[in-house]
Amino acid sequence: MAFRWTNTLTAADVTPKAAYLNRRQILAASVGLGAIGLTGTGAAAQTAEELEPNTLEEITSYNNFYEFGTGKEDPKRNAHMLDTTDWKITVDGMVDNPGEYALADLLEGLTVEDRIYRFRCVEAWSMVIPWNGIEFADILEKAGVQETAKYVAFETAVQPENMIGVQRGVLDFPYVEGLRLDEAMHPLTIMATGIYGEPIANQNGAPIRLVVPWKYGFKSIKSIVRITLTDVEPPTSWNKSQPSEYGFYSNVNPEVSHPRWSQASERRIGGGLFAPRIDTLKFNGYEEEVASLYDGMDLSVFF
Ligand code: MTE
Repeated sequence: MAFRWTNTLTAADVTPKAAYLNRRQILAASVGLGAIGLTGTGAAAQTAEELEPNTLEEITSYNNFYEFGTGKEDPKRNAHMLDTTDWKITVDGMVDNPGEYALADLLEGLTVEDRIYRFRCVEAWSMVIPWNGIEFADILEKAGVQETAKYVAFETAVQPENMIGVQRGVLDFPYVEGLRLDEAMHPLTIMATGIYGEPIANQNGAPIRLVVPWKYGFKSIKSIVRITLTDVEPPTSWNKSQPSEYGFYSNVNPEVSHPRWSQASERRIGGGLFAPRIDTLKFNGYEEEVASLYDGMDLSVFF
């Protein structure tokens, strides 16, 4: 099966920065997914074979990170202000090992994998991003999730003196997000620490951000300082801001329109001014892997 977007980028579009990772290495890394039974004939296998990643330049210069402004180029301009030194993450709630962990301690002994994922923003643009990250389930295992836990809540750092968007109050900060525990434990869910083998850029959510590839991009919360296991559905920033437009689940779904625009197609960043829009795939192309998480749920109600 050939996707239209495989033709939108060629080797000539890859920046020298990106070129050091040759395509074969990237593919080999992605095929590694097969080892945990994710590929088979499914979308993840297509990910390995068909997807051409965006360039590092594209990935780091067109962003949403409202702490640093609402414009697409604001994060690149302003996120150098983010202070990532001595980063700590509080792990609390229904866990056996609560505490404030230095980032390095929390990740010690865990494997960083290469994952090329589609990334689909709710605003109907998309990229393909070669992340380096850790399966979130590995981190949860370290935390020791208690049986009563049903959800995971996440919180982004607030550094008012460094964050122009916080100073301006463009959203109710801290930015918060959440997942159901089974979504959080799914092998596709990662905590990214890098892109193209480089530490993740501040504008992409340094030093660590969530990536949930089958959900709209706003679920993938950046620059995380708190992870809380809970038994109640956690509040989420965009739902608090516009509950009729942004639900808790926010699975990519071409059949359920945003109240103000269609979600049936998307614009691939880097495709050029005249590139045709591409069809949006249910669960962003990861249907085979994740659809069973939502068995029996009406996805137009739980949007
Ligand atoms: N996380 C925080 N803390 N603040 C934000 O404004 N924006 C979200 C998500 N995570 C956001 C955030 C949205 S709307 C998107 S589409 C993605 O980050 C964008 O990720 P990227 O800039 O790395 O492409």
